[in-house]
Amino acid sequence: MSDLATRLSIRSLHPVFVAEITGIDLTVPVAREDFQTIWDAFNEYQILVFRDQPFDDDSQIAFSRNFGALETMEAHAANNYRPGHIAVMTNLDAKGNLLPLTDPSLIHRLRNESWHSDSSFKPVAALASLLSGRIVPPVGGNTEFASGRAAYAALPDERKTALEGLNVVHRVTAPNETADSRAYSEEQKQRLTVTHPLIRTNPLNGRKNLYIGSHAHEIVGMSREEGRRILEELTEFCTQPQFVYSHPWREHDLVIWDNRCTLHRATTFDKTRYRRKLHRTTVAGSAPDTAMARMPEVAT
Ligand code: OGA
Ligand code: MN
Repeated sequence: MSDLATRLSIRSLHPVFVAEITGIDLTVPVAREDFQTIWDAFNEYQILVFRDQPFDDDSQIAFSRNFGALETMEAHAANNYRPGHIAVMTNLDAKGNLLPLTDPSLIHRLRNESWHSDSSFKPVAALASLLSGRIVPPVGGNTEFASGRAAYAALPDERKTALEGLNVVHRVTAPNETADSRAYSEEQKQRLTVTHPLIRTNPLNGRKNLYIGSHAHEIVGMSREEGRRILEELTEFCTQPQFVYSHPWREHDLVIWDNRCTLHRATTFDKTRYRRKLHRTTVAGSAPDTAMARMPEVAT
């Protein structure tokens, strides 16, 4: 066992977050000591990159469960209203052909090109997402990540104090996007309008971060305009180049991100020429955050 653990190696990929881990095959059951190393690195680096992990959906789900129980996706056009544990990020139809740019699921996925944290519109937001590169374009289509932790740390102390204790309304739909708004039922829109603190704390290491993104629309107790203005300003601050890592996909990459403290967005590519298909599993969070101070039990 310790033999396995010693082959794991962690290399930082960016000055303020992101590490690549090598020396482990995640497609087969992972020893608890090795998962402890991965869990600790996840809490420290926020984004983990693994290369050469040829997952199928079953092995991806099995590995993801080390982090806890998985979310089931919300029903919408992009999953043919048949959601499961796997969200497919693709510009292909079921036969593998390029979808026309006017296809509703492609239009829905354009939302991913805005900075966001997965499931921030759920009452208990996601802990982690695991994205596996199945088919990747030769150019473009990077996923970009921003560290809400590094951004928070860089704020002046008086700004940190001013932001402490504020709560933010997150919604599944953007109010000004009509196509997007039609994709969800009234029941979903109601259930998926929630409030989260603007500043979150990692229970393992006490590090604080900004918790924002495209689903964050208003600040409780402020006018819509004032809240929006502050959220936009913080998003701009958080997504400055010094806090951003851009991941160029290779086939069989697995990238894991901490949704509690990072934002991410898809970048575009030539969708009329190239194929892209990434499969995501999403690990449910827990409320309150303090429940995640220890490594999770294996979920069933
Ligand atoms: C996601 C996501 C971005 C991408 O899977 O949650 O936002 O680059 N993906 O596909
Ligand atoms: Mn996402």
